[in-house]
Amino acid sequence: MDQTLTIALSKGRILKDTLPLLKAAGIEPIEDIFTSRKLIFETNVPGVNFVILRATDVPSYVELGAADLGVSGKDVLLEHGGKGMYELVDLNIARCKLMTAGIDDVEPEGRLKVATKFVNVTKRYYAELGRQVDIIKLYGAMELAPIMGLADRIVDIVDTGNTLRANGLKPFEEIADISSRLVAGKSAYKNKHHLIQPIIEKLDRAINEAKELEAKELEAQG
Ligand code: ATP
Ligand code: PRP
Repeated sequence: MDQTLTIALSKGRILKDTLPLLKAAGIEPIEDIFTSRKLIFETNVPGVNFVILRATDVPSYVELGAADLGVSGKDVLLEHGGKGMYELVDLNIARCKLMTAGIDDVEPEGRLKVATKFVNVTKRYYAELGRQVDIIKLYGAMELAPIMGLADRIVDIVDTGNTLRANGLKPFEEIADISSRLVAGKSAYKNKHHLIQPIIEKLDRAINEAKELEAKELEAQG
């Protein structure tokens, strides 16, 4: 039986919250990911490796079977489409919302211009509303687009709302609630179920404990 498991992790803001959960599931890298330039890391569990990827590349590795499991933001999964994989666990980390935003919600004459890096999600969202829009693909600093007259709206991640406020924008409609998810490639889930199922169970326990702790802390704060 195949005892190897490759887990694709998103570098960036998700990583520091992912590693403690995986540690609670009994898996930790044998060297410090944050100080190394390596991309593949062995773990304390023989045969189990982490690969560290750009967040947006994780679904491709999992879909095509180059990695067995992956950790990805729901925004990235929605944009990718989630083909070829199962979403196994809501890790309840990197929580935020995918929203539309703009300077004011006055409807422009003609077609709405929407700037975003989430082109597929945005197309689906406005198609469901029956709105015809022109989508402008950007790779960052979405908030700038309405200020510069490039677009009427943006579709982007909102957490505290500070970035929108600091740039004179307002949040409008919520498109999706976002958090990071554990995903498995369909064939990996079938062929390596004996390795994956115990990880799911341990992660579920660790996530519930984290939720209980968070609830207690909120209660203590009144
Ligand atoms: P890349 O830098 O590779 O282009 P990115 O900038 O989207 O990707 P991160 O900023 O590390 O990468 O974000 C990773 C994930 O964290 C996102 O896909 C999203 O799910 C979540 N996220 C992004 N911004 C926030 C935020 N402000 N608060 C909470 N979660 C966030
Ligand atoms: C993300 C997102 C928003 C911001 C929202 O950017 O693109 O700009 O966070 O968070 P807030 O509502 O708490 O202000 P990030 O900081 O990841 O920078 P990025 O442009 O590199 O993605």
